[in-house]
Amino acid sequence: MEPSTAHVPDARPHRTALRRHFLMCRPDHFAVTYAINPWMDPAAGADAGRAVGQWEALRGAYLGLGHRVSLIEPIAGLPDMVFAANGGLVVAGKAYGARFTHPERAAEGPAYMEWLRHNGFPDVLEPAHTNEGEGDFLTLEDVILAGTGFRTDLAAHQEAQEFLGRPVVTLRLVDPRFYHLDTALFPLGDGNVAYYPGAFSAGSRTVLERMFPDAVLAGERDAAVLGLNAVCDGRHVVLNAEAGDLIETLARHGYEPVPVDLSELRKAGGGPKCCTLELRPA
Ligand code: ARG
Repeated sequence: MEPSTAHVPDARPHRTALRRHFLMCRPDHFAVTYAINPWMDPAAGADAGRAVGQWEALRGAYLGLGHRVSLIEPIAGLPDMVFAANGGLVVAGKAYGARFTHPERAAEGPAYMEWLRHNGFPDVLEPAHTNEGEGDFLTLEDVILAGTGFRTDLAAHQEAQEFLGRPVVTLRLVDPRFYHLDTALFPLGDGNVAYYPGAFSAGSRTVLERMFPDAVLAGERDAAVLGLNAVCDGRHVVLNAEAGDLIETLARHGYEPVPVDLSELRKAGGGPKCCTLELRPA
């Protein structure tokens, strides 16, 4: 008689974590003094002390998972500089610089390029086109997904592809709450992604369905607490603790959720991923 191999009950796939190198910026000068996205209310403001505490816990979570964290010096007068993801896009040791949409953040572009140049990434391209770094460019194994619609110009997608030599796929964002691609989608580290379909145009949703038939889909409730603004190392997913349904779904798919509280930084429209720029070595 043949041994039965059918239906091993609840065989969750095994997920493997890869050690990452992240750049972060302590929110010493964090504040909500202007409004460039619907999350920001200057009248309500934000508490820099609380933000620092939450940010320290996020950094601690990365270190606890074995990741390396480098730090860039925060600059007074740049309250959003904590959102390091917007500071550039580093792939295979090459750094595509950021050029911000709003004048309030413009000085962050050169500051991050300067840091990269002097900290092991001399090959920096000063961009000709508006782009907000990893806020709108998410790097997978074979492809870079690129957001447009609110911040990053289509021309920057081409500029990044030419410089980095990786195929760039454009995705159009349509909901102002999800103004950066990284507020609506994150890579899972195995060629797959998690995303909130409602953030994308009909055509882009079709592209995502074709490219990622096994994607982890998130609902409105999880998206609305910036649950998709997450960082996955292939196994662990660092994400906002309020994204309860997504946390459950990820666990069912064999990932290990690592919930964090970044509620103070959310007042500026940011979450864990926004605070994190991945430095991918050559
Ligand atoms: N207040 C910042 C802005 O509107 C938040 C940036 C969040 N960063 C991100 N990668 N989504 O630009």
